[in-house]
Amino acid sequence: MAQTRPARIAVFDSGVGGLTVLAAIHRALPNLDLRFLGDTARLPYGTKSAHTVERYALQAAQSLLADGAVDGLVVACNTVSSCALPALRARFDVEVLGVIEPGAAAAVAATRSGHVGVIGTERTVASGAYAQAVAALDPRVTVHARATPLLVSLAEEGWFDHPATDATLRAYLQPWLADPGVRQIDTLVLGCTHYPVFALALSRVLGDLLERPVRLVDSAEPIARQLGQRFAGAQGRGVVELFATDSLERFERVGGLFFPMAHAQVALVDL
Ligand code: DGL
Repeated sequence: MAQTRPARIAVFDSGVGGLTVLAAIHRALPNLDLRFLGDTARLPYGTKSAHTVERYALQAAQSLLADGAVDGLVVACNTVSSCALPALRARFDVEVLGVIEPGAAAAVAATRSGHVGVIGTERTVASGAYAQAVAALDPRVTVHARATPLLVSLAEEGWFDHPATDATLRAYLQPWLADPGVRQIDTLVLGCTHYPVFALALSRVLGDLLERPVRLVDSAEPIARQLGQRFAGAQGRGVVELFATDSLERFERVGGLFFPMAHAQVALVDL
């Protein structure tokens, strides 16, 4: 009988943030084999030039796809998705999914005021990728974007619900929300895969500043649903391999707050 290899998806990010996406995929498709890479040695990507981000992304993808045993690549990083998808798709012969379009679609579906906020890294915000993706779906919706780069360090520190996190959110959001246009947002896209861990803190600070609730959306569940349709019935063994490019001790300690690592195989990789 012909032996077929298990179905396997590769997922990558600059750090542990992409584990929020991996967790959603694992919940939706527990039988699929998953392979994750966090390029922790070179984090953050969000403050770097588009050229450097593209170079790093090609190296990360090469490492994940080298053995030809992967059926799809999820770029679980908004920064990479905002500037390197064309290069990844041109170089590799697997389906490459980014996180911007699913997040934009979720925001367009959720907003009633027609004003959507986006927080993300400097590179993601400078790219205008969310404004473009939203305009392609519904040109009547206005996107207001704000770079909030320090949140990546707070997430990598595991400070999800901490006074320093509330203070940082307030420092970024208060001046931004003073703009009457921005005040109309009813939906906020967590445009960085590190940010879903701040859902509680964000709801609290936004609620204080706007005196009404704001809907938070991110790409993890929409991506997982998309893969769920695409890979329904695909057979893997539920094996999870996790790779990092620096200190496994730190990766396991902080990454464990994002994804249950007990049954995963964890290894160091050099790009
Ligand atoms: N998690 C990455 C993103 O979604 C960015 C973090 C970084 O700056 O490296 O954009």
